[in-house]
Amino acid sequence: MALVDVSAVPQHVAIIMDGNGRWAQQLGRARPLGHREGSLAVRRTVRAARRLGVRALTLYAFSEQNWERPAPEVQALMVLLRDYLVSERGEILDNEIRLRAVGDTERLPPLVRDVLEPLVRESANNQGMTLTLALSYGGREEILTAARALAAEAVAGNLDPEAIDASALEGAMPSLEVGPVDLLIRTGGEMRISNFLLWSAAYAELYFCDTLWPNYSEADLYDAVAEYQKRNRRFGRVEASVTEAQAESKSEPKGESKSESEAEPSTSIRHAQKNAAI
Ligand code: FPP
Repeated sequence: MALVDVSAVPQHVAIIMDGNGRWAQQLGRARPLGHREGSLAVRRTVRAARRLGVRALTLYAFSEQNWERPAPEVQALMVLLRDYLVSERGEILDNEIRLRAVGDTERLPPLVRDVLEPLVRESANNQGMTLTLALSYGGREEILTAARALAAEAVAGNLDPEAIDASALEGAMPSLEVGPVDLLIRTGGEMRISNFLLWSAAYAELYFCDTLWPNYSEADLYDAVAEYQKRNRRFGRVEASVTEAQAESKSEPKGESKSESEAEPSTSIRHAQKNAAI
């Protein structure tokens, strides 16, 4: 297991949990068995992330596009989600975990919503790690929904279109509530982002591993974090530290056009400064 510097753990880790189907197929079993085994990996990973001191963990549990899978597989995933929420309720509440869901959760069947919504409410004031389940989620859809909400405000006369900037859009995107992603992990050997957290992961460090999700272990998470700690995050800038760059951009006269490397720091950068401070 890789050694991790606990003083520099990524604050927000997001995971594309891929490989459940292949795991089951390798055993000659139906895909839903892979998802069931995958839910045990979810439990292990939540525990490991909490122990490491990760502040926010976002898991891609069901994408907007997953509705197109065969109905029995979708149904099996919904039952699994319900079972997971029922079985982990105690652990979530006992460990001060705040549970959230992002995505078009109104599309979820009552069997999931009836356990999800009360647990989100009950855990809302918890101060430990925030666990966000991306459910019926798509990154492009989230941006579109936010853009539509801001456009409606503008049409209603409550918002000057000129005032629409990155932070206005981020304020309308629930996935950004826990800050941008620092480390984005994808298991299962593919190297794609698959419409996950497109805005939030703009400056995330990407980490791909071959482990099929049902086999994902605490050691795999440590490997990803150790690799993250070797990376040099520049946020589109060159050598100067992010803090120096922010000080320079503040001292510039207003109204001058700025190149990408000189623009106002985004929340990613503010987040990185917080990271540097811990
Ligand atoms: C991708 O594997 C995984 C999913 C579409 C669903 C992820 C769900 C879980 C890990 C279990 C339930 C979740 C929770 C939060 C309890 P795939 O089926 O695309 O795998 P493949 O690429 O091998 O076909």
